[in-house]
Parts: sequence; C-alpha cells; structure tokens
Amino acid sequence: MAPLAFRSSLVFFFFLSLWVSLIPGTISLTCTSQKFTNNQLYSKCLDLPLLNSYLHYTYDSSNSSLSVVFIATPAKSGGWISWAINPTGEGMVGAQALIAFKNDGVMTVKTYNISSYSSIVQSKLSFDVWDTKAEESDGLMRIFAKVKVPAKAESLNQVWQVGPSVTAGFPDKHAFGQANLQSKGTLSLNGGQISSGGVDSRTKRKNVSFI
Ligand SMILES: *[C@@H]1O[C@H](CO)[C@@H](O)[C@H](O)[C@H]1NC(C)=O
Ligand SMILES: *[C@@H]1O[C@H](CO)[C@@H](O)[C@H](O)[C@H]1NC(C)=O
Ligand SMILES: *[C@@H]1O[C@H](CO)[C@@H](O)[C@H](O)[C@H]1NC(C)=O
Repeated sequence: MAPLAFRSSLVFFFFLSLWVSLIPGTISLTCTSQKFTNNQLYSKCLDLPLLNSYLHYTYDSSNSSLSVVFIATPAKSGGWISWAINPTGEGMVGAQALIAFKNDGVMTVKTYNISSYSSIVQSKLSFDVWDTKAEESDGLMRIFAKVKVPAKAESLNQVWQVGPSVTAGFPDKHAFGQANLQSKGTLSLNGGQISSGGVDSRTKRKNVSFI
C-alpha cells in the first residue's frame, strides 16, 4: 500500500500547488502591485502600517482636491471598512468618515460625522466629497472617493478602520485592539515620509496604468 499512499500524497501536493497558484493576484502584499478597474491612475500609494490596509491617492494642488482609493479587508466577512479625515484632531473623535459595506446586497459608501465615540451620525461631511464608489472582490473592499482639502494644506490627519458586521444598515463597533487604536497618522499630500500610528512608512511612486 505504500506506493499508493505515496502516489496519493503526490496528487494531493499537485492540487495544493495548483490551488495556491490560483489565489487571485489582487491579494497583494504591497500597494504598487494593486490594480483597479476604473482606468484611474493614482500618483502615490501607501502600504498602511496596520490592519493590512492600503491607500492610493493623487493630490491636485490646483484645485485642492484629493482622489483616493482605500483598500482593506473587513474584520469579518459581512463587515465594513472605513477611511476618514480628521480636520480637527487625531483619531476617531472628530473624524469625517467614509464607510463601505454591503447594504441590501449592494456595496455602498456612506459618510459619517463622528463627533464622539457615542455620536456616529450619517451625515454630510465638513468638506465636499464626490465620485464615491465601493467595490468588493476576493474578500477585499475598496472605497473610491474625491475630497476637497483646505487650500495649501500639506498634510491631513487620516484614520482608517475595519469592522466585523453591519446591523440594519449601520456599521457595528470595531474591535479595540492595539492595531485598531493605532490606525491613524499624518498623510503627506505630496508624498514623502508620513508617520502612522508611531510607525514610519514611505509613499511609493507608481507609473502603472490601471485597466
Ligand atoms: C480638480 O481637478 C481634477 C483634475 O483636473 C478634476 O477631476 C476635479 O473634478 C477637480 N475638482 C474640483 C473640486 O473642481
Ligand atoms: C458633526 O456633529 C457635530 C456635533 O453634533 C456638529 O457640531 C457638527 O456641525 C457636525 N458636522 C457636520 C459636518 O455635520
Ligand atoms: C512614466 O509614464 C510616463 C507616461 O506614460 C512616461 O513618460 C515616463 O517615461 C514613465 N516613467 C518611468 C520612470 O517609467
């Protein structure tokens, strides 16, 4: 029986390697290899240091607009992802958040004014937001948006988060682990070094076209 067992383990190994090689290329370890379906080109990207999240962005200083794609995996399937700007401080309190999740089976982006831990209200944000869209594939979610930033701003306080579930169209509370609490930092609009949750990361320049 030994040869048969040997053969079946070879067959198993063959299928295992086939399966591994079929894992879609969109599950990327770095932002520079991520591609989009909207024909958009973003000039910079960041592998955010926590929560396996990524930010692609282009800053247009001529009209103070920032075009972003935020990519993350929800804490659980059926959960949510969020990217926010905090115009008045750091972290969650004061954040003007874009949150994406599946609502009645359709990926949606909603905007929330988070004025305190207990006041998370779906609302317009304190700055203009347009061209919002959400997508989900291979377990990853993406938020696309354009936002107006203050004229001559050089950096923004960003906050990002992932959550486990959504109840009646409202995102449920996220975990309060170290990574959840530290997922914030300064976003440098023109690139260069940023500090995020105490970890420095470097923006990458990209020169790929997304088809
Ligand atoms: C700013 O310019 C970009 C690119 O030219 C354009 O896509 C965007 O709509 C403009 N934003 C505003 C607020 O006018
Ligand atoms: C956000 O909520 C706070 C507290 O209710 C309020 O003062 C502020 O005007 C709201 N911001 C926006 C953009 O609605
Ligand atoms: C980046 O793309 C532009 C436009 O296609 C091209 O002109 C330039 O040479 C490219 N730069 C690099 C470093 O590949």
